[in-house]
Amino acid sequence: MFQQRHPELWANRTLTVRQARRLIDDLDPEQDCAEITHISLEVMTPPLFSHMAYTSGFARGTTHPAEARAVHRGAGYLHAPVNRDRDTMTFFGLLHRYGPHSPELQELADRIQQIHHDVRGVGNQLQLHILGLMMYEPERWARDLGLPDYFTDREHQARYHLWKAIGTRMGIRGIWDSYGEVEPWILAFEEKHGARSSEGVEIYRGQIRGFEKYFPRPLRFLAGPVLTAGLPVSARDHLDAPRVPVLVDKAMRAVATVVRLTEPVRPVNLSSTWVRDFSRMGDDPDISRMGYQHDTSSDPRYAKVAAAGEGHRFTVAEGLQPGRGCPMHGAGM
Ligand code: HEM
Repeated sequence: MFQQRHPELWANRTLTVRQARRLIDDLDPEQDCAEITHISLEVMTPPLFSHMAYTSGFARGTTHPAEARAVHRGAGYLHAPVNRDRDTMTFFGLLHRYGPHSPELQELADRIQQIHHDVRGVGNQLQLHILGLMMYEPERWARDLGLPDYFTDREHQARYHLWKAIGTRMGIRGIWDSYGEVEPWILAFEEKHGARSSEGVEIYRGQIRGFEKYFPRPLRFLAGPVLTAGLPVSARDHLDAPRVPVLVDKAMRAVATVVRLTEPVRPVNLSSTWVRDFSRMGDDPDISRMGYQHDTSSDPRYAKVAAAGEGHRFTVAEGLQPGRGCPMHGAGM
């Protein structure tokens, strides 16, 4: 039975953002990386902000045409962008909840890699690119909205250590030795590979459609500009992103400043999680039903390993094998 290392940091307790920040001061950025990232992103940061920062990271990923083509093939972002975004955020919430000291982290990494296997594979360099964006995009996003010191160095270090642990469980090779190496690597990678692709453009339109759902109907036309205001200028052309009116940019910065200035009094609750905010399947979702759902019956790779009735399981260590899934995966996948 899973036991959280610091259940008090997930308790139903209301406090101000400033008090929540103080809790981080007593935690270790490596050992307590999941706890710090939980407080930093799930508790202190409004869910829509976190969602936007990660949407921006995802969109940056698709400025690499090969990445855009792989995501396009999966088609989830074209047909059901809201479900895809919600499932992604839920996966990340579960990664925070279980953290690097639990066997469940490996099960989550196995399931994510099963999805990548099912969409016909995702190369190591591309995964490294996304991994780096997970580590660093929240800092870039806040900085570009005028909040360079929104996160402390301890929070950056914790995000780095958490995602390093996740990337290692996913089998990603060549992970950086320090947080400081991540941004230069990403910029050089994007300088070399970033380009416009029709798939990238189409996916970004899907993301905007998904994001529109957070706006009341008469204001939905603002979804594209608001989402794009958080996107690095270098990525906007590649994705044919809508123009950001000066007023929208100013309004976003104003909201960000208010979020920052109200920290001494703004109430938050330690029990806030992305699982609670975004899950389509409650607080304890079956991860085999989350995310991209593959038609295994018509995939010869599955048939070759075992007949449908026998079941399959996928792990990073062994790939596709006959047998039943682990408890978090649900039975039989
Ligand atoms: C550390 C790197 C990465 C992480 C942590 C990650 C995480 C995830 C997660 C949590 C999902 C489940 C969401 C869902 O299916 O709704 C997912 C799905 C997917 N990922 Fe990744 N991913 C990474 C890298 C990549 C890269 C580099 C590509 C493309 C080249 C990619 C392509 C996909 C596709 C196509 C899906 C299925 C989306 C659909 O439903 O169509 N991922 N990934």
